[in-house]
Amino acid sequence: MKLLIRSIRPEDWSAIERIQAESYPREVLESLEALQSHWRVSGDTCVVAELEGQVVGYLLAHPWPKRTIPPLNKVYSVLPDDSDSLFIHDLALSPTARRSGMGRDLVRSVLQAGALMRLTTASLIAVQGSEGFWKRFGFTVCDTLADDFVAAVRCFYPASDFSYMERCFIGQGGE
Ligand SMILES: CC(C)(COP(=O)(O)OP(=O)(O)OC[C@H]1O[C@@H](n2cnc3c(N)ncnc32)[C@H](O)[C@@H]1OP(=O)(O)O)[C@@H](O)C(=O)NCCC(=O)NCCS
Repeated sequence: MKLLIRSIRPEDWSAIERIQAESYPREVLESLEALQSHWRVSGDTCVVAELEGQVVGYLLAHPWPKRTIPPLNKVYSVLPDDSDSLFIHDLALSPTARRSGMGRDLVRSVLQAGALMRLTTASLIAVQGSEGFWKRFGFTVCDTLADDFVAAVRCFYPASDFSYMERCFIGQGGE
């Protein structure tokens, strides 16, 4: 089976939208324009997994200031000046492509890009029981968060459990 982790091309978006809809509850889905804006601000940290010519997964990430979260389902065209951390906005695999190592390949590829950009940390909001997956890459749960930060995350994910996780780029390899 031929797996390729590669940059996103304009023709990939219908597959990305389909995989998003297969992976998350309707109320947290982002519009096509919002998804594309993550890629427009940082194409080097947004990738797809292509298996036998079909896009089966994607990861969208971009720099963002540490310990803050970008707005969900909003289009933005510039990054704040102090964007020192890689925020992993979204990672999803088509259900039939899961548990075959492709999530790992997508994460490794984007962490490599973040390290080359000399960002200090990577961060994400782990949802849907994915904490154990992220721990494999050196991410740890950060539970000393300011109340306003927790309230901001809760606005985006009102009905689900979540964890804010971080990882340093220097000296914390994970897998
Ligand atoms: C989370 C997700 C991306 C993982 O992708 P995947 O391709 O299935 O993961 P991989 O096969 O690369 O798994 C790598 C390792 O993590 C483990 N793993 C996978 N999902 C896991 C989970 N939810 N919890 C703990 N470990 C997990 C695998 O068993 C594998 O371990 P191994 O190396 O010992 O075999 C995928 O389940 C998914 O798309 N879920 C729906 C969207 C979602 O919730 N995304 C996370 C948002 S924060």
